[in-house]
Amino acid sequence: MLLGEKLIAFRDSSGRVGVMDQKCPHRCASLFLGRNEENGIRCVYHGWKFDTEGNCVDMPSVPAERDFKHLVKATAYKAVERNGLVWVYMGDRKSAPPLPQIEATLLPESEVTISFVQRECNWLQALEGDIDTAHFGFLHAGGLTANMIADDSIFRYTVTNRAPDYHVADTAAGTMYGAFRAAEAGETYWRFANFMLPFWTQTPQGKFTEHLHNRAWVPMDDTHTMFVSLMWRRHPPFVTDDKDGNMMPGFGRVFDYLPNTTDWYGRWRLNGRPENDWLIDRAAQATSGNYTGINGIHAQDQAVTESMGPITDHLFEHLGPSDMMIMRTRRRLLAVARAFAKSGKAPPGVDNPDIMYPVRSGDFVTEAGLSWRDAYDRQMAASVRPLQQAAE
Ligand code: FES
Ligand SMILES: [Fe+2]
Repeated sequence: MLLGEKLIAFRDSSGRVGVMDQKCPHRCASLFLGRNEENGIRCVYHGWKFDTEGNCVDMPSVPAERDFKHLVKATAYKAVERNGLVWVYMGDRKSAPPLPQIEATLLPESEVTISFVQRECNWLQALEGDIDTAHFGFLHAGGLTANMIADDSIFRYTVTNRAPDYHVADTAAGTMYGAFRAAEAGETYWRFANFMLPFWTQTPQGKFTEHLHNRAWVPMDDTHTMFVSLMWRRHPPFVTDDKDGNMMPGFGRVFDYLPNTTDWYGRWRLNGRPENDWLIDRAAQATSGNYTGINGIHAQDQAVTESMGPITDHLFEHLGPSDMMIMRTRRRLLAVARAFAKSGKAPPGVDNPDIMYPVRSGDFVTEAGLSWRDAYDRQMAASVRPLQQAAE
């Protein structure tokens, strides 16, 4: 499922990837049942065969002199592979725009861990969890106290002060926030994160200078989202242990998947689901230091965003100062969508993919009083840039 369309994807005998409407243009049997033959997929109903571009290349159920295969085309989308991901262009342009220069997607596949998780709600409410750092001190760390966290871990400040202040701004690629709060005397603890059009984020959960990751919230349809995480393998592991080396309560990092099925919504689902109350353990919630009683950071995010319902009722919300980034991002998206609807203006990044490259997030401590832009620029200048460094 992509953007509400049921598609089949296959690799032909020459290695090309085909992504096309599942419906055979003859009489609508599903090409899911198709035979992957030489350089094309053949519908099993009457044997019509299509190449990866959707051309009907064989029509064996029709007498040769009445063949009309040149008039038949399956709906096929342009698909490109890069570093372990298949990118599909579903727009109207004759040739697809260039792929975005999002940093983690440019690294060789061997350098990146790619994970998928399906979420059963609208893509935007799922994405908004990534640009909402105020929830971290509750949903994930509400049961922790500062004395549980290693003395040298700056993560402790999310617990010593659970109400950060924010700077937010539009950027070339989307929006950015710098959340800040006091650290030790004379110091500020910063958490920077980004939204990048149309559905990418970078979270603040990691050491800024080495935090090379990108997260996509791809709309399968209006109420199902495929989360795609790309994480640089040499990124230092995120702190999950307390001072004594025990996993902090609820901090499980492994996805607890159901078996994949061939259903349109059958892939990369988590075991914790609305029907089983996301496996909430009330006893653990009451006594174990796991604030939610749900195990796993991603599972906790999944539970709260799915619990809002398939599409959040925004009229019911009461947004506050800690939601500044969410407000800014919604306005940015609306402005871009309206400009496109009104005059066809392409959203940022479509024709200028380079603007996606110099964007980073993460946490760090500086002296107090440094401006947020200077704090960000200084970290960027000190950041590890494996692609640039390889080029040099
Ligand atoms: S329905 Fe596919 S060939 Fe007839
Ligand atoms: Fe979260």
